[in-house]
Formats: sequence, C-alpha cells, structure tokens
Amino acid sequence: MSAGPSDPLFLELEPADLHGSIQDPSLEAVNFLNEIMLRHPDAISFAPGAPYPAFFDEIDAGHYIDIYADHLKNTRALTPRQIIRMVHQYGPSKGLINDLISRVLSQDEGLITDPGSIVVTVGCQEAMFLLLRALRSGPGDLIAVVNPCYVGLIGAARLVDFEVVPIDENNEGIDLDQLKEACRAASANGKRIKAVYVAPDHSNPSGTLMPTSTRLALLEAAKLHDFIIIEDTTYRFTSAQESNTPLLKSLDSSNRVVLLGTFAKTCTPGARVGYIVADQAIRNGSGRTKVLADELAALKTMVTVNTSPICQAIIGGMLIEHDCSIRRLAETKTKVYRKNLECLLGGLERYLGELPQVTWNRPKGGFFASLRLPRPVDSSLAAFSAQQFGVLWTPMSNFYIDGRTSYELRLSCSYLSEHQIDEGLNRLSHFLRHVTNTARIDIA
Ligand SMILES: Cc1ncc(COP(=O)(O)O)c(C=O)c1O
Repeated sequence: MSAGPSDPLFLELEPADLHGSIQDPSLEAVNFLNEIMLRHPDAISFAPGAPYPAFFDEIDAGHYIDIYADHLKNTRALTPRQIIRMVHQYGPSKGLINDLISRVLSQDEGLITDPGSIVVTVGCQEAMFLLLRALRSGPGDLIAVVNPCYVGLIGAARLVDFEVVPIDENNEGIDLDQLKEACRAASANGKRIKAVYVAPDHSNPSGTLMPTSTRLALLEAAKLHDFIIIEDTTYRFTSAQESNTPLLKSLDSSNRVVLLGTFAKTCTPGARVGYIVADQAIRNGSGRTKVLADELAALKTMVTVNTSPICQAIIGGMLIEHDCSIRRLAETKTKVYRKNLECLLGGLERYLGELPQVTWNRPKGGFFASLRLPRPVDSSLAAFSAQQFGVLWTPMSNFYIDGRTSYELRLSCSYLSEHQIDEGLNRLSHFLRHVTNTARIDIA
C-alpha cells in the first residue's frame, strides 16, 4: 500500500533539518538570475561569466584524445590497449595530466612545480571545496576573502562551515590594513585567520588587478600573521603579457601560496577540469613527509574519486597541441576577450557619457567591469531591466558577503559578440536613464 501526504508519518523535511548552506542567499540570487534569463530569452545578458559560445564550434574532443593517446605512446611507451584502459578506467585521484600542467606553469610563468604537488580537480570549484575542507580544522578557524568575492568560493566556505571574514577590495586589490586588523581581532577573540582568498588577476566580479607592490605586502602580512594565501588564477590569461605582474606563487619565499587554476575559460568549461598546486609540507610523526596535495587527493577520493580521465585526456591533448602553453593555446580567445572588453568600455563612454551620476571602473583585462548607480541595485531591479529594457546584468549585491546595500552592478563581456555588446549597452543606457530619473520604480 503506498503512503501519501495524508499519512501523518509521510516524510516532509523542514529547512532546519538540512545544512545551513542550502538556505544561503547567494544560491537563491544565482538561481533567480538564471530564471530571469530563461524568462526573457531575448534580453541581451551581460550576466554570465561564461566563455564565448562560438569557441566551442571548433572543438573536436576525439582529436584531442588521440593527441593525448599519442603522447602516452611516445612518452610512456604504452600500448593502445593500455592507453584505452587508462582513459576509460577509474584513475589516480591526483590526476593524469599533472606533468602537463606543471609544464604549463613552467613555460608560461617560469614557476617550477613538482607534478606530485598538483591535484587535477573537477573544475576549480572542486579545488576550492577540497582545500577549504582540509584547512578548516575547527570553529576557531576563519577565512578572509576579498569583498566583493567570487560566489563559488563563498559557497564552498559555507559548505564546510568556514566562517568568512570579508575584507574590502580596493584599487590595489585588497585593503591590507583592514586585513591585518582582522587578523589581530581574530587572535584577540581566540580565533585565527587561517587563509586569505584573492583573485589578483582581474578578479570576479570587479576586474581588479593587484599590483606587484600589494602582492609583496600581502606575502609579508601572511608571514607576520601566519596565514595561507589562496591565489585564484582564473582570468590571468587575459592579462597583457608585457604588463604581466608575477604570480603571488612566484614571489612566495615562505611557501604560503596555494594556487588554483582552471581550463574552463581557456579550453572548455564542459570538460570540468581545474587544478590546485598545494606543495606545503605536512609534518608527520612517523617521519614520512607528505605535501598538502596528498591530503587533498585523499579527500577527493571521498568526493569525486578522480577527475574524469576522458576529460583530462581532452584537455591534455589541447595542451600538447600548443606545446603546453596556455598563452599560445588561448591566444585567439584572449584577443577576442580583450577586444570585447575594449568594446564594453568604449561603449560605456559613448552611451553613458552624458549620465554623470553613473560611474564605472576600467579594468585592463578579465571578463568584468563594475558600474555604480546613484541608487541601490538588487535582483528585482535586474528583473525590471530584463523585462522592460531587454538587458540583463548581475547585481553586485550577489558578491558582497556582508549583506550591505550595494549600488553597483557587474557587466560581463565574455559571452557576447561585439554587436551584442553594443546593442546591450544601448538598451542599458535607456534603462539607466529611466532609473536614474525615477525616484521609485514599481517593480511587478
Ligand atoms: C574567479 C573564479 N574562480 C573559479 C571559477 C570556477 O571555475 P570552474 O569552472 O573551473 O569551476 C570561476 C568561474 O567562473 C571564477 O570566476
């Protein structure tokens, strides 16, 4: 006999029965934005930080798997059967293409890494989750993050109950005085800032580039206050090579930086391949030395077991085809994104020049720019913009951890063609003229 809702023992869960992260407002905000996009398919959307879709048209996954298979034959003398088994079987939790990633870091950054200190993860997102899970050893541990911050990091912190301390982002990347004060305050309360998350190369959401002087000062602060720096390199490939500031990890003389990377924006997000470089030694009573990557790989066996070897083979093939240089691999894409950003910033000047109440920043790379309005900006205003003006964007309030009223919105230029950017800005200018002239809007 099947039970039904009339059965008093028919199970219905209360939100309070579930982990607090499920109620997280940032999850709701992201879902809301996705819903608006679905409801207004003709709206031009500056919301997604996703790669330009036409880049996928040329990807031939089989071709790249073949290149990777050839590489295995030539470098490891594997037979075709061994290669097929390697690509289709469960694999090592640390990953298969660690040597290739290590070559990328050496070629593009001059950074020498032991492939054994790298874990290949299911996107950068899994790397964040594993790292935060490993670092939070108790309720006294805090993680400081730039505020506003990438939502995936905040979400990962909430999943593992890591208490987040927001530190204002400024033009230099992070307010170091505030960070040092937060370290002192934590310690005065018997707590400890264990790690600090930054995305120094054109951060998501604001596109800020951290200058070398701040990177050096952050590293000094890390030594002084004994914290780990989590360096997210997602948008680094878009930096102009000649003006490239060094990786924090390259400047790091005390081995405090854990580096996060992804192939989502340079190769394809569909492969879901990212990585973490975690070469910090772990003292072990038995005299055996491990590195943090060993422990992350152990945790990974309980989360995703291993990153899909098929997907790793695709990314591996793409890397080999470009001699393990992301600079070379993503050259055309970088040009498109830089052109799109130019087009976005130029268009803002043209369309909004006569709206002095609206201001914006001028990032030199990355996917994002941020616009400041003379009125609060939230999800309902975004819905109104999509409904009435056919243009969508992301409220910056989604990225602020402290729940402050935000007057900013994020515009992403990666997902659109130049023509769409231009038309989108035209629509945005109509929307902005309307809302900056209207004291109160009745939003349905
Ligand atoms: C700053 C930043 N870090 C990490 C990621 C996540 O990358 P992945 O798709 O590899 O999980 C993103 C994705 O947009 C991002 O913007």
